[in-house]
Amino acid sequence: MLQDLNQVYERDRAVWNSCARTYEEQIVGGHPDVTAYEEFEEDLLDRILLHLIRDRKTKVRLYDVGCGSGRLHLRYALKSVLPASLPYEERSRIRSAQRVKAGYVFDSVLSHGLESIGGVDFSAEMLELARRKLRRAGLGTLLGNRLFLDQGSAFDLPLFSPYPLPFLVTVCNSIGVMQGPKGAEALFRSMCRAVEGSGGIALISSYRKEAIQSFALSNYESTMNVCGQPRWLRPDSYADARHILVPQAYKRAYDPSGEILVDVFNRKGQLLHPAVALRRDPSAVDYAIRTGHIRTYSDYESYWYSWDQIQAWMDTLWPKDRAYHLEGCKIDSLRAGPVQLAVLDAGNHLKDLVQRWSV
Ligand SMILES: C[S@@+](CC[C@H](N)C(=O)[O-])C[C@H]1O[C@@H](n2cnc3c(N)ncnc32)[C@H](O)[C@@H]1O
Repeated sequence: MLQDLNQVYERDRAVWNSCARTYEEQIVGGHPDVTAYEEFEEDLLDRILLHLIRDRKTKVRLYDVGCGSGRLHLRYALKSVLPASLPYEERSRIRSAQRVKAGYVFDSVLSHGLESIGGVDFSAEMLELARRKLRRAGLGTLLGNRLFLDQGSAFDLPLFSPYPLPFLVTVCNSIGVMQGPKGAEALFRSMCRAVEGSGGIALISSYRKEAIQSFALSNYESTMNVCGQPRWLRPDSYADARHILVPQAYKRAYDPSGEILVDVFNRKGQLLHPAVALRRDPSAVDYAIRTGHIRTYSDYESYWYSWDQIQAWMDTLWPKDRAYHLEGCKIDSLRAGPVQLAVLDAGNHLKDLVQRWSV
């Protein structure tokens, strides 16, 4: 890694360690626009796994790069593990967890072909949340044999062997929080290196810069108690480490309002100032729209990369004849409007499936 990438990496690691718990509560299981995106991705991954396992008779190893609190681990472990195969005392917890969402219900195809679910994240706090979540769901005995959580860098992925087929994913715009454009480039390289020799698959799902105005502004405004006050909102009187600004409601995508009401708390959780109005500053908003660069007053940074930028990385860093750049809205216009997918299909497993989405 380059020296400056290293420094941003350490800074971001501290940011993610400190926001892990609120990220889990307010974003992974909270913001309606984010959960719509997550559910789109999960249905898409189900479809790809079904194609690989059922149609192509392939055994698969799913590996989530930037796995955070183990959203995909939980889903795919619940879908693919028969409660009867686990210790007696865990079974009722698994059965209850499988009833929480339709997407958690046991699936015999996945049980047959999904050999393991792994993932890597640089944040120890995030990984601890994942372990706790998996144990609570009765899946603790699978940690270390069928479920793997590695602490490390997305830029130093191991070389995967061909069997079971490695299917690496980076979801929920994680590329956008991986240390800026240099980090994104390192991710493209690292994922390619990891699967190229084994004929595996790498998929990067991200938000598009073109959706900053319609999606990103309201999204970050209504989650500022997780990531900090966006720099386009004024005043910044409480945008410091002594205060927590809690939006009064989730502001939804396409909400044109330039204002949001927040309750200001101190670190002890005492309400100091109710209903403080924060307003958008047009020139700071313009910077975010022009650059795709989201910044808050808490060192949190995210990039929403343009279609052309992702295409440029694919063209220069991935083999051209095995890569697909897909528009989310062509696959699912209701939930994936702001999404793009970069897919490297080194072993040519997905051609038939992808053709249906590229029209
Ligand atoms: C947007 S969250 C997504 C978490 C999870 N994939 C999900 O969908 O719920 C991004 C995750 O990437 C991790 N991360 C950021 N940069 C990383 C890096 N260079 N190497 C490994 N993990 C990183 C963060 O700790 C965080 O958990």
